[in-house]
Amino acid sequence: ANAATIKDLEAARSFLCQSLPENLVQPKVGIVCGSGLGGLVEIIKNKQEFAYSEIPGFVTSTVQGHAGKLVFGLLGDNDVPTVCMVGRFHFYEGFALTQTTFPIRLMALLKVGTLIVTNAAGGLNPAFKVGDVCIIEDHINLPGMTGNNPLIGPNMDDFGVRFPPMSDAYCPRLRRLVYDAAKKMGIPKFLHEGVYVFVSGPSYESKAECRLLRSIGADVVGMSTIPEVVVARHCNIKVLGLSLVTNMVVVHRDRRSDPDAPFEDKVVEERAANHAEVLQAAKDRAQDLQTLVKYIVEMI
Ligand code: 6GU
Repeated sequence: ANAATIKDLEAARSFLCQSLPENLVQPKVGIVCGSGLGGLVEIIKNKQEFAYSEIPGFVTSTVQGHAGKLVFGLLGDNDVPTVCMVGRFHFYEGFALTQTTFPIRLMALLKVGTLIVTNAAGGLNPAFKVGDVCIIEDHINLPGMTGNNPLIGPNMDDFGVRFPPMSDAYCPRLRRLVYDAAKKMGIPKFLHEGVYVFVSGPSYESKAECRLLRSIGADVVGMSTIPEVVVARHCNIKVLGLSLVTNMVVVHRDRRSDPDAPFEDKVVEERAANHAEVLQAAKDRAQDLQTLVKYIVEMI
């Protein structure tokens, strides 16, 4: 359904290439800025911006804090040609996964070699704290395993193989660069590596669902990123995924109504996840994450 064809993608590419100067038409790096992380584009030089609404084949995002534009420019002290998605498309908005990943295939056509995907995520690993950054080492594509994989449909042979592996999705060298960049910034203690579990949303997880996700080996949970990673890996783009932990999920059972429950179970009172809190945490750490990404891009 709503499959993007190579013709749709070519139309988007030729639209962009018409107005881009020669030094920007072949970006080396693609970046997807998650919730509240769009400030990265402020440090991009020679910017050329395109609202999603003007690019053929793009849908238009509907979430607050996700105003959509594609920004081309130079990033880092060594002027790395970069294309940046400010705002992304989510499955929960009602788009087909082929639509949410359209920009990634466009990046493939533009010959992007490395994709950096960022997101705001809920922390499941009790060792994590709000404001920490989790380098994605692996993922659990829950919707993808049960019928909502972006590659479902006739294979686009121009991009990649029918059955792409995902066991090597997250480039070890790029993950290593994150540690180097964090060290340079003096913030290595905010870094973790972990497993991101993709859920469709838009409702946040129940407590029982959080316990389920933790028990299957996930460290962070979110509603984005993995479809983009799957499509990027299909066309052999190297991937780095960074999750900003914007809130810790609630996992304790609620026994407050049980008169016989142990005392500890009754005093547990944790706050429900909410979008405002997620955006605030993203804002608080945005500057650091931007500098981190800049340093990484300089070293790619
Ligand atoms: Cl707690 N859950 C999900 N699914 N996505 C999130 C989140 C939680 N926090 C930020 N994004």
